[in-house]
Amino acid sequence: MLDIRYSSLVSSFVFCEHQVSRIEYPELKLIFLVCDSLFTIFALLRLLQKICYFEYLRFDQYIIGPQKMYQIKAKILFNEEIISGHYKMRLHAPGIAQEAKPGQFVHIKIKDGYDPLLRRPFSIHRCEGKKIEILYKVVGRGTEFLSRKKIGNEIDTLGPLGQGFKISPDLKKIVLVAGGMGIAPLHFLAEKLNRENILILLGAESKGKILYLENLKNLNVKVQIATEDGSQGYKGLLSEFFFDLLKENSQIDLVCACGPIPMLKKIAQLSLKYKIPCQVSLEQRMGCGIGVCLGCTIKGESGYLRVCSDGPVFQANQIRWKEER
Ligand SMILES: Cc1cc2nc3c(=O)[nH]c(=O)nc-3n(C[C@H](O)[C@H](O)[C@H](O)COP(=O)(O)OP(=O)(O)OC[C@H]3O[C@@H](n4cnc5c(N)ncnc54)[C@H](O)[C@@H]3O)c2cc1C
Ligand code: FES
Repeated sequence: MLDIRYSSLVSSFVFCEHQVSRIEYPELKLIFLVCDSLFTIFALLRLLQKICYFEYLRFDQYIIGPQKMYQIKAKILFNEEIISGHYKMRLHAPGIAQEAKPGQFVHIKIKDGYDPLLRRPFSIHRCEGKKIEILYKVVGRGTEFLSRKKIGNEIDTLGPLGQGFKISPDLKKIVLVAGGMGIAPLHFLAEKLNRENILILLGAESKGKILYLENLKNLNVKVQIATEDGSQGYKGLLSEFFFDLLKENSQIDLVCACGPIPMLKKIAQLSLKYKIPCQVSLEQRMGCGIGVCLGCTIKGESGYLRVCSDGPVFQANQIRWKEER
């Protein structure tokens, strides 16, 4: 009960951070800073509680159970707009690149100081040697600052975080459903699986907004496109396209989906109806990103779930979909 109240407090705090950063009054900022300190004390207390479960603790590397995570100053190697408002950033992040699994994310401190105060989460989109890539859309202050970073700048990066996709090697036909930015983690998954019988369904509003990345073409996967205005591929919503596919072909062993909540809800409901296992990658505003603050909780079928540490990838039947909009 206390956890639920605490979770609401942190959620409100996360919301306030976004609002107060736009206000010019110093008094309000002071109140915000006091709340921030209280929040930090609460978070530290919970972190201390968690440390009991740590096997090993160092300043730049933490091991929580079987999972390693790193906090590093990652050097930016590339940061360019690939289509209008969408950027790709490559970072030198050796430990993270070595440990990352598809579906995990990094939590990035956009700027030093308190504006924006909270880190921002981004799915790991690719890993190559000691480098990782993220793909991001400019939607607000944080991503706007990020888009202005230059090659050579260093950025405080924490990761890899969360639970990724769980794919057993004997699955034959896997369908990856990517709505808009949803391609970010699913591309990494397709690259790692690198096997035949993977179908990617890519959805976008129109042809110009399709994130059909060059390196997808080099993978051994089939790609089908749906656009809402019909300017390329199937005309309609990605969930409608997926429904048509299910009606024609129910020989699917697993569905993995990432994208906006209404789309995920439809995909999850259809998969459950057709009795196809389905994993969804959820997005939620986050505070700590490591399961401490409870700012990212959602309702699951058997209690509250933390998107950052129980997810972001969940089995579709774990989520109480009627609570999600
Ligand atoms: C696990 C995870 C993985 C993610 N991966 C990616 C990714 O690969 N690429 C990418 O572009 N974005 C990704 N996001 C979303 C990304 O974190 C937000 O877009 C980002 O934090 C926005 O920061 P901002 O300061 O620019 O926007 P703000 O100024 O904070 O907000 C602008 C708008 O974005 C919405 N928003 C903010 N944060 C989130 C969030 N976490 N989830 C959903 N909506 C949000 C707000 O409601 C608001 O409408 C991911 C989120 C999570 C939780
Ligand atoms: S963001 Fe803190 S628990 Fe998930």
